[in-house]
Amino acid sequence: MSTPQMAVLKTKAEEVPTTTPTVQASTESREVLTITNVSKFFERANGTTVPAVDGVSLAVRSGEFLVLLGPSGCGKTTLLRCIAGLEQPDAGRIVIDGKTVYSSVERIELSAQQRTLSMVFQSYALWPNMSVFDNIAYPLRNRKIRKAQITDDVHRIAKLVGIDEVIGQFPNHISGGQQQRVALARALVSGDALVLFDEPLSNVDAKVRKDLRIELTALQNRFGFAAVYVTHDQEDAMELGTKIAVLEKGKVAQVASPREVYQNPASRYVATFIGSTNELEGKVVSVDATGLYIDTPLGVIRSERPHGGFAPGDEVVAIFRPEHGYLTPAHPGTVNALKATFRMELFSGSHAEQVVTHNHKVYRVWHGQEQEHGSEAWIGVAPEKVHVFER
Ligand SMILES: Nc1ncnc2c1ncn2[C@@H]1O[C@H](COP(=O)(O)OP(=O)(O)OP(=O)(O)O)[C@@H](O)[C@H]1O
Ligand SMILES: [Mg+2]
Repeated sequence: MSTPQMAVLKTKAEEVPTTTPTVQASTESREVLTITNVSKFFERANGTTVPAVDGVSLAVRSGEFLVLLGPSGCGKTTLLRCIAGLEQPDAGRIVIDGKTVYSSVERIELSAQQRTLSMVFQSYALWPNMSVFDNIAYPLRNRKIRKAQITDDVHRIAKLVGIDEVIGQFPNHISGGQQQRVALARALVSGDALVLFDEPLSNVDAKVRKDLRIELTALQNRFGFAAVYVTHDQEDAMELGTKIAVLEKGKVAQVASPREVYQNPASRYVATFIGSTNELEGKVVSVDATGLYIDTPLGVIRSERPHGGFAPGDEVVAIFRPEHGYLTPAHPGTVNALKATFRMELFSGSHAEQVVTHNHKVYRVWHGQEQEHGSEAWIGVAPEKVHVFER
């Protein structure tokens, strides 16, 4: 089976540099991309309007790696295409490297060719009739750069990305992982301050994917470009991102560091999209200075985290991660002893997960001993690990 090829669409630089700007690390940090209140609506055939991108504001500095994360259809690709100039937004403003490339108010719209950025896609072929060398050299050929300089740059980048030994090959004679590297090299050789990625790793196997993530991070640290990277894979997002913007129906649900998004999710949507969760729906019974108690089908659960000012009677959901849950020999009356039924232990190599159920709903905790199937099990969790959101 052949792996789909990946390729790069390189937009032309407006000003032709006299010397190649490639393979230069930049250390100073500046704002490379600013998106302000950008919206893009699509008309469906049945006359309804889809807010694919809905009032999005984001900023990316050089050296930053912004991941756009969210489920299928949340607007990731549309936003990326708006930045690249492949889609015209309906409203807002986009500034790339200090230059306004789109403004609905000022009626500015620069073409894709006029925007100084590189793009790496998942599903566009590399030039199949060009060698790896020529594919990488392609963006440089449009510029007034000496031939010897181009040869130098291509070899240097190819080496950096780890494809120097296949530089004379044609794309369909190299592996999917190598094709990805060629596409990456082609984006990097341009030396643009902004590189856009749309799911570039989705067609490589798990092992290569892990290697490429590390490589990509190393290359970004070295070149200092600003990256906007679209994925629906949370592992990609957590490992690559310096910032993650979680999108929900065209809107930014939260933008923060991977750690912040994981540890302090802004909503139920963010909490459940990133990482595994146990969710207990219930009603607030009482609120005090340090937390609140919630009545759930498994018993009363206490949370001691900042929350949205809930009051007794509010319908909420209590959420905690499996790694914070444990099976406890506790009994009724203890804080956060939640009664369920033991089902099984799932061993995944790095840890064992204890699976319990209540009314056909599954809960998972990482700490505790395997019990007899069908026996009574008590889940424990520290109150400071319990998030509370509105339902
Ligand atoms: N050309 C188009 N015409 C009409 N609707 C569109 C068009 N392109 C995208 N959409 C709609 O806009 C919304 C956002 O689509 P988009 O491709 O940006 O999602 P995505 O987050 O990239 O999804 P995926 O993870 O599946 O690639 C979807 O509801 C989609 O159906
Ligand atoms: Mg997409």
